[in-house]
Amino acid sequence: METEQLEKFKAWFDDYVAGFYGDDPYVNANLKLKEDHTRRTCAEMVYLADELALPENQKRIAEVIALFHDIGRFTQFVKYRTYNDPRSENHCLLGLDVLRQTNVLEPVAAEERELIERAIEYHGIRELPDDLDGQCLLFSKMIRDADKLDVFYLTTEAYARYAENPDEFELEVELPDEPYCSPGVLEAVLAGRLVDYSELRTLNDMKLLQLGWVYNVNFTPTLRRIQKQGFLKTLFGFLPNSEDIENVKEKILAYVDFRIERDA
Ligand SMILES: [Fe+2]
Repeated sequence: METEQLEKFKAWFDDYVAGFYGDDPYVNANLKLKEDHTRRTCAEMVYLADELALPENQKRIAEVIALFHDIGRFTQFVKYRTYNDPRSENHCLLGLDVLRQTNVLEPVAAEERELIERAIEYHGIRELPDDLDGQCLLFSKMIRDADKLDVFYLTTEAYARYAENPDEFELEVELPDEPYCSPGVLEAVLAGRLVDYSELRTLNDMKLLQLGWVYNVNFTPTLRRIQKQGFLKTLFGFLPNSEDIENVKEKILAYVDFRIERDA
């Protein structure tokens, strides 16, 4: 894929997304969230591609994956007014529908298109299928890390704004802001087990799930970036002060230190 093609895709994305904005400020704010998320995820993807020293062509493929990974989000929010997949549709598959219906990937060679589509399909699933290998596995792992990096950024920023003034918070809050964590979620994160979205009952559960992501980060450069940005400490600051949370904090911070030192 040529650089020119990547630029054309960026212009296409701008046009495509612009078409969704309307008169409803709530919808617009949520669309903007994903538009900005996409741009920052592209930057994180380029960071990872550089850290992994990928050849130029692969870097471009990686960036296209990031550019289109959430392309299903815009139609999802306009149609359902939620980003909650179980309450609407799987946004990864919705994204593949958008790419096929608009035929935007047509200029890309078939094998590269396949890599792009698979990585988009798998970016939101709980765990990657066992049978992936080669570049398909590489790009799938990369987009999952790049996506997480930006979700760390945008949620820590959103929790701060929400804590300051919950009544004026302009984005969708998918879970009730209760002062407790579900014992099952706490236990899972402590044990380093994956938490499923269906187990979440409170906003605090969501924060715990996110902290538990560190165990599923694929690349050490991703962990270095998480550490450097202070995302984990910020997130812990939005959780209740309890012995349980203190235990989770100790364990997670130690795990990140361990992996960074191991791979230094
Ligand atoms: Fe996504």
